[in-house]
Amino acid sequence: MTEVDLDHALAVARRALDAAAAAAMKHYDVGVKVETKPDRSPVTAADRESEVAILEVLQSAFPDHSILAEESGKQDKAPHARWIVDPIDGTRGFTRGGKFWGALIALELDGEIVVGAMGLPALGDQYWARKGGGTFKNGVARRVTAIDALEDATVSLGEMGPLLSPPHGPRVTDVVRTAASARCYGDLEGVAMVLDGLADVWLEHGVQPWDLAPTKILLEEAGGRFTTFDGGDSIHLGHAVGSNGLLHDRVLQMISRS
Ligand code: IPD
Repeated sequence: MTEVDLDHALAVARRALDAAAAAAMKHYDVGVKVETKPDRSPVTAADRESEVAILEVLQSAFPDHSILAEESGKQDKAPHARWIVDPIDGTRGFTRGGKFWGALIALELDGEIVVGAMGLPALGDQYWARKGGGTFKNGVARRVTAIDALEDATVSLGEMGPLLSPPHGPRVTDVVRTAASARCYGDLEGVAMVLDGLADVWLEHGVQPWDLAPTKILLEEAGGRFTTFDGGDSIHLGHAVGSNGLLHDRVLQMISRS
């Protein structure tokens, strides 16, 4: 594996979260013009300025690392080390004065996510993890729940349109109908629910690598699991099952194609 000091990388990622929060909060407080991207999703000056602020921090610390960022795309440099950045996940909620939005930042080394950081500035919360170091929220270690029966579990759902679409839609519905409860805050709050012990399973579909990149290590270092709907470990396929680990195989059996 490419040599990078993970504690240093994590400290840089958290500094980048702070820079992103400062850039976005300026607009959040006064309101911002909403533009529409070709895929009909919203974007604002806050997304762009947050991304510039994040990249400035990352690139001054790691000038040779590659970048994959939602608004500015790819910068291919080192083949083994790449930062994956979403400057504001939950832009739609951000533009409407919601609280569940913020930056997602992850470091991928040799194809493996080894550092992840996620900020929700309107709530004053930051989550972070590095490989082997545990997951923290605002400095306090996080562990996933110990609920081991789906019938007793709360399921946190991401974007409902893609989740309910064929072919997996009916199987997602089965999971929801089997669980004790389902909640649908979406965006980065979807996984935060599991990290906060408010949910035991998280399902997401139809998203991009930057929407998922840090969630994998945040879950794993909190004692949970992250896979695709098919049980693979990629953050690049646009779908995710996150869980406390204990419920993972049961949920995969219910929703995977095989
Ligand atoms: C969006 C969110 C949303 C999903 C969209 C994404 P963004 O991210 O993750 O839940 O449905 O496809 O684009 O644009 O707010 O970073």
